[in-house]
Amino acid sequence: MRMEFRYIGDVKVSEVGLGTWQFSDSWGVTNYDLAKSIIERALDVGVNFFDTAAVYGMGMSERFLGQALKELGERENVFIATKIPGEFLSRHDVFKATKRSMERLGSYIDLMQVHWPPCWDNIPTCEYMRALEELVHIGVIRMIGLSDFPPELIESAWSCLSTEDIVSIQVKYNLVERDAEKEIIPYAEAYDLSVLAWSPLAKGALSGKYRPENLPEFSDVREGSAVFHPENFRQVYEIVKLLEEIGAKYGKKPSQVALKWLLMASEKVIVIPGAKSPEQVEENTGASGWTMSLDDWMKLEEESGKIRITRVLW
Ligand SMILES: NC(=O)c1ccc[n+]([C@@H]2O[C@H](COP(=O)([O-])OP(=O)(O)OC[C@H]3O[C@@H](n4cnc5c(N)ncnc54)[C@H](OP(=O)(O)O)[C@@H]3O)[C@@H](O)[C@H]2O)c1
Repeated sequence: MRMEFRYIGDVKVSEVGLGTWQFSDSWGVTNYDLAKSIIERALDVGVNFFDTAAVYGMGMSERFLGQALKELGERENVFIATKIPGEFLSRHDVFKATKRSMERLGSYIDLMQVHWPPCWDNIPTCEYMRALEELVHIGVIRMIGLSDFPPELIESAWSCLSTEDIVSIQVKYNLVERDAEKEIIPYAEAYDLSVLAWSPLAKGALSGKYRPENLPEFSDVREGSAVFHPENFRQVYEIVKLLEEIGAKYGKKPSQVALKWLLMASEKVIVIPGAKSPEQVEENTGASGWTMSLDDWMKLEEESGKIRITRVLW
């Protein structure tokens, strides 16, 4: 298996990273040894980029990641991205939240992202962006990124910065939820931002293991999730079948084809699938190091373009 690399700022990162929201009650990996074995396998198969956030497991994800990398002696060989929640964005809280994340990670931070724009607290955009820039100057974060921001707000956030650039935007992007293509990805391509694609497997819906007739009653973050609602999953399953058919030609699993499609859609995309076992992370890295034909890529493009995921379900 050959991992290929892309860039965040001037740093080379594996085009398949590891999302670590799974280390939380929301997804269920709450045992440290299991989390460590997932991180260890990720490193073994060429992953050097880990995405976490303060809110994942209320700090559990950052703690597990920091501890595992320390025990494995790998901190200096990897790139850690974490996030400040949209509620912690006053100048004072940006400093405090960063200090807390650093304590949990036991480390400086390669990429600090604003997890989502503030919606309740009326914090001016330049207040938190300038605080982040100061943290770069102080030397505790290396780069600044945004998550779940529309282009207009990315622009105004960027205009607050004097010496630093915004280097990345994190967005929901998978084969059945492609809204990011409408404006975020073209914006990122034009302004040289890395696109960190979250939920790239549509929360496991594209993995091939769920069928309309055996959909479990989820008791995790997917409870009530739109992609798994029968009205939507019927359409999603058409793509899963196509992923299986195309995957069979290349000896690839549906999840590997689904991630590959995103990587081929734009050179700015880096995928960060979550994994609940070492086997899953290893399988997901099999999205790298091969190519799908244009014909197959287009079949998926055309069929997934017909999908209309609705969130109006009540
Ligand atoms: N910035 C944001 O607002 C935001 C929001 C969401 C997520 N994220 C980030 O993005 C990462 C990934 O997103 P996500 O966790 O929402 O969804 P995802 O990566 O689309 O799906 C992850 C889930 O799919 C299943 N899976 C993964 N690999 C598999 C494989 N090879 N075979 C079979 N099943 C597999 C696992 O669940 P099961 O085995 O239980 O099916 C896993 O928990 C997160 O960890 C987090 O870092 C960011």
